[in-house]
This record gives sequence, C-alpha cells and structure tokens, in this order.
Amino acid sequence: MSKLIYILNGPNLNLLGKRQPEIYGHDTLADIERDCARVGEEFGLDVRLLQSNHEGQIIDWIHEAREQAGGIVINPGAFTHTSIAILDALNTFEGPVFEVHISQVHKREAFRHHSYVSHRSDGVMVGFGVEGYALAMRRMGSLLGK
Ligand code: DQA
Repeated sequence: MSKLIYILNGPNLNLLGKRQPEIYGHDTLADIERDCARVGEEFGLDVRLLQSNHEGQIIDWIHEAREQAGGIVINPGAFTHTSIAILDALNTFEGPVFEVHISQVHKREAFRHHSYVSHRSDGVMVGFGVEGYALAMRRMGSLLGK
C-alpha cells in the first residue's frame, strides 16, 4: 500500500485566501499543504497537493493516483456539483477517497446541495473550514498510516 496521499483541488481554489474570505477564510493552499504534511508526518504518510481549474487535468491526476497513491483527499470545487466524469474517475480508484468542502454547502444555494463525488466518497468533511483537509488526513492516517 502506497504511503502517498493525493490532495486534489478544483477550480478557483488557487485563489484561496483572496477569494470571498468571508466564506472561505484567509488561509491559502500553501497553509493547507503545510497542515496536511504535518498530520502526514505523524502517521508516516507523504502528501502531494495539486490544484487545477481544468476538469480533464483533475481526471488525469486521479488516474495517476491509481498508480502512485494510497488515498485521495479531494475538494472538486464547483465540479462537485456537475462532474460525472470526475465521479467515474474516482470509481476507478481503489483506496479511500475523502471529499472536503471548506464551506457548509448545505447552508448555501440549493445547487450546491448535490454532490456527484459523494456517490464515491468514503467520508465527507463539510463546513470545517480549511481544517477539514487536516481532519480528512487524520482519518487517512488511521486507515493507512503506521
Ligand atoms: C467548495 C464549495 C463549492 O460549492 C464551490 O463551488 C467551491 C468550493 C468548498 O470548498 O466549500 O468552489 O467546494
């Protein structure tokens, strides 16, 4: 079992820290990467954090994860609510998949209430801010770590 965890981020999450901070907070992807790496160290897991605004790129990384990674943490951004293709890709991955949403999507617009990705996710962190990523990593550690 690979000790590498892919942490995949979808569209607009490159702007984390600058984008609607009242919803998404002030932390950046670099802060998330640092926090996840710290949790990973506790459990003997490595992390690779990636972000793309392009659906196909995220699918390619999921395919890469099939070869390289033991688990996937994914915040697909708005693709959560639209992408059967990302769901199909995740369905080809055998390890644990945890879905993260920084905001509490169920308190927001109705179009954010449905997640295609949740049809595959083994767990979902919703509304815990950026801490949701580290919490998902902790669970990854319990499942795959030392
Ligand atoms: C999000 C919620 C999505 O509805 C939104 O499109 C995002 C971010 C979140 O982390 O809360 O881009 O996934």
